[in-house]
Amino acid sequence: MGKKRFTVTSALLYANGPIHLGHLAGAYLPADIYVRYQKLKGHDVAFICGSDEHGAAITLQAKKEGVSPQEIVDKYHELNKNSFKDFGINFDIYDRTSSQDHHETAQEVFKLLNDQGKFVKKTNQQFYDVENKQFLADRYIKGTCPKCGHDDAYGDQCEKCGSTLSPEELINPKSTISGNTPTLKETSHWFLPMQNHENWLKKWINEGVFDGEKTHNPKDWKSQVVGQCNSWLDTGLKERSMTRDLDWGVKVPVENSEGKVLYVWLDAPIGYITATKKYAQNNNLNWKKYWKNNESELIHFIGKDNIVFHCVIFPIILKEMGGFNLPTNVPANEFLNLEGQKLSTSKNWAIWLHEYLSDFENQQDTLRYVLSATSPENKDTDFTWKDFQARNNNELVAVFGNFINRVIVLTNKYWDGLVPERTNLLQYDKEVLESINMSANKIGKAIESFKLREGLNEMMSLARIGNKYLAETEPWKLIKTDEERTSTILNISLQISAALSILCEPYLPFTASKLKKLLNINLQDWNDISVDLVAANHKINKHEHLFKKIEDSEIEEQLQKLNS
Ligand code: MF3
Ligand code: ZN
Repeated sequence: MGKKRFTVTSALLYANGPIHLGHLAGAYLPADIYVRYQKLKGHDVAFICGSDEHGAAITLQAKKEGVSPQEIVDKYHELNKNSFKDFGINFDIYDRTSSQDHHETAQEVFKLLNDQGKFVKKTNQQFYDVENKQFLADRYIKGTCPKCGHDDAYGDQCEKCGSTLSPEELINPKSTISGNTPTLKETSHWFLPMQNHENWLKKWINEGVFDGEKTHNPKDWKSQVVGQCNSWLDTGLKERSMTRDLDWGVKVPVENSEGKVLYVWLDAPIGYITATKKYAQNNNLNWKKYWKNNESELIHFIGKDNIVFHCVIFPIILKEMGGFNLPTNVPANEFLNLEGQKLSTSKNWAIWLHEYLSDFENQQDTLRYVLSATSPENKDTDFTWKDFQARNNNELVAVFGNFINRVIVLTNKYWDGLVPERTNLLQYDKEVLESINMSANKIGKAIESFKLREGLNEMMSLARIGNKYLAETEPWKLIKTDEERTSTILNISLQISAALSILCEPYLPFTASKLKKLLNINLQDWNDISVDLVAANHKINKHEHLFKKIEDSEIEEQLQKLNS
């Protein structure tokens, strides 16, 4: 199979607060797993992310903390960039939308589309907060959702039912700055006539055909993603304003546009392109091969509240720019709850990554494991501390860790750390050896089709096979009577251990590198997986624990912290 190219993006994270578990499980960890796997397969991947630094999410937080928007984004950009790094989320670039380059790129896009008449300029009446002298759009206005009756919907979106809204649709609208009922005031904006794009979008989403060419197989997309797109397309798209009356953001690059900036949902996705350009520049590559080349796949990892922006609005922009790829998949995740309740920053119902790390030092992989095992792939799921402890103790420690531990200890004890020979194979040995390549295939297929939980289960199945093999053959007893047979058993167990050091890497990168150190190997290529990964007489290292048991007291402490 030839080398493929992927442009993989994770939703640019608002730099208005620290990152929590829900974020990690939604758009970042799954992307990292996918990217690590594709890179291990030898493919060319640009893994793009960064901070989303414009929009009311930022300015409202600045107001709350009593500092400037710039200070807010500087603070959280650094914090979040480091949290991602600490958890092994290996972006090729973590850029930011407040940068000069990004402003230029976003302005170029706007100008290009505006010059070609892709927007419609209109003057109309919009909600206005007289007290604060400010127009109210997006998160600056709240009211009751006309679709589902939720009484806390934003001016652009209802977080309860996922509908995209415009402020005038809200029932009983209120300014979020003052709480006042807004008045109306005249203003002009540039609108994207989305209704003109319904036909090709329908064809692209449902048939995987764009511009007469096959782009993807719609069956490969999650059904809830296709379903959401169709529900918007069937209700009919409306024109949507691509500019705002605000002073924080990318300035509208045309005459007579004082006090106007680009809509954050126009500028942010363009941030993926800006970041790719920078990544390419830093690495002497041509950015166009990641965006304007039909041999590249574009994949957006996001949470479900971002579907409309990545499957409808941004594709329209990409099409209108001409020559850009459309996404080949948008594997949006559902939400992760915490102890049965929705995560909430304002109610402080969350687990912050930087806090997790100070309480569970060097245990990033445990969190990665538990979040992968409970990944909200097709429906909302629940993270609980008890489940976290159980999965760590009963699966990572008792199965994976125990297996590796025994293999390393026995090899050191009986063969001075030298890999023993493999001689006559019984049927059982052959079956165990065969499971190595079978696992590699199954894990790979699962990850390629975004079934990350399934991939994780397959990886653990191999560890289980190894653990069971040792439990049943009992080499620690056999050594007294049959040294040759014992040496075969350990050789096979060492091959499984070596295979696991690559197979677990997408999910558990810290464990993978520890395991490689223990085995004194440096495997980097998924395609090399075989039954002969470590040769006889290869010297391995002394044993060290891969995982640590988590005590009841540690879990109690976390539960108390959450409820305090
Ligand atoms: N910051 C947005 C959110 O958290 C996501 C932006 S994704 C991008 O919902 F495509 F706009 F970059
Ligand atoms: Zn609603």
